[in-house]
Amino acid sequence: MIVVKAGGRALAQNLDNIAKSIAKRASEGMRIIFVHGGGDLVSEYERRMGIEPKFVVSPQGIRSRYTDEAELEVFVMVMAGKLNKEIVSRLQRYGANAIGISGADGGFLKAERKKKIVIVDERGRARAIPGGYTGRIIEVNASVAENLLNSFQVLVVAPIALGTEYELLNIDADQAAAKISMGIKAEKLLILTDVEGVIVDGGVLGSISVDEAEKLQPKIGTGMNRKVMMCCEAVRSGVEEAIISTGLIDDPLEALEREIGTRIKT
Ligand SMILES: Nc1ncnc2c1ncn2[C@@H]1O[C@H](COP(=O)(O)OP(=O)(O)OP(=O)(O)O)[C@@H](O)[C@H]1O
Ligand SMILES: [Mg+2]
Repeated sequence: MIVVKAGGRALAQNLDNIAKSIAKRASEGMRIIFVHGGGDLVSEYERRMGIEPKFVVSPQGIRSRYTDEAELEVFVMVMAGKLNKEIVSRLQRYGANAIGISGADGGFLKAERKKKIVIVDERGRARAIPGGYTGRIIEVNASVAENLLNSFQVLVVAPIALGTEYELLNIDADQAAAKISMGIKAEKLLILTDVEGVIVDGGVLGSISVDEAEKLQPKIGTGMNRKVMMCCEAVRSGVEEAIISTGLIDDPLEALEREIGTRIKT
């Protein structure tokens, strides 16, 4: 089993090729869980509904969407509705029998709501604010994925989890992909984004160890730092290889077979 994640910009620019690329591997017998991001599309619909999207930055430099109650509604509509079904229909068009769920369906992903989060404010000072409707994944129910992948070729997962009080929560898609890869004991985790891989000192890193990746963290900027962190966690808990590569080429899943992108191993 392979877990593939694609970010919102890669999907917006190249959904057709991403879907073809997944469908091709599915027809060869690969079982794929596809986790999607889609933050930009959520922002677009928020604006259409008169809500201004908000973002926060943690003291570690990790940038996240801030989700209050009204924003959660749009998040769920766009992620579990519009985008998830758009991806499913595209996979179906290219011959893959795909089914789409959110992490709440079947109790697939359980998360703990963040009561408080620490953010850095405009003046550079750290302070705690209410966490909103954002969660940290605490449990992956692997049997949900296994059962669905016995009946369908591709499982498309929207980044939403069920909280401990059964509330819907926004979860980070990179985190979701990594935790799923760990929970189902996937062979590989492939994160597709809008750059060729992890760039350090002007060049794309090829193969690196988890230790090397962790040492390089301070040199890696927002967006990518979270991916590297999650890849390291996945590899440390048994996923053979985590790859960060471009989702903008004709056949992005080629990164599973050919040495492109940045590969993180033990
Ligand atoms: N050292 C680095 N190497 C590569 N990219 C980096 C680096 N530092 C910061 N980045 C940024 O990280 C971005 C990728 O992360 P980002 O979270 O923006 O995308 P995504 O997760 O694929 O999509 P989305 O968050 O919209 O779903 C790149 O576009 C790049 O601008
Ligand atoms: Mg991102």
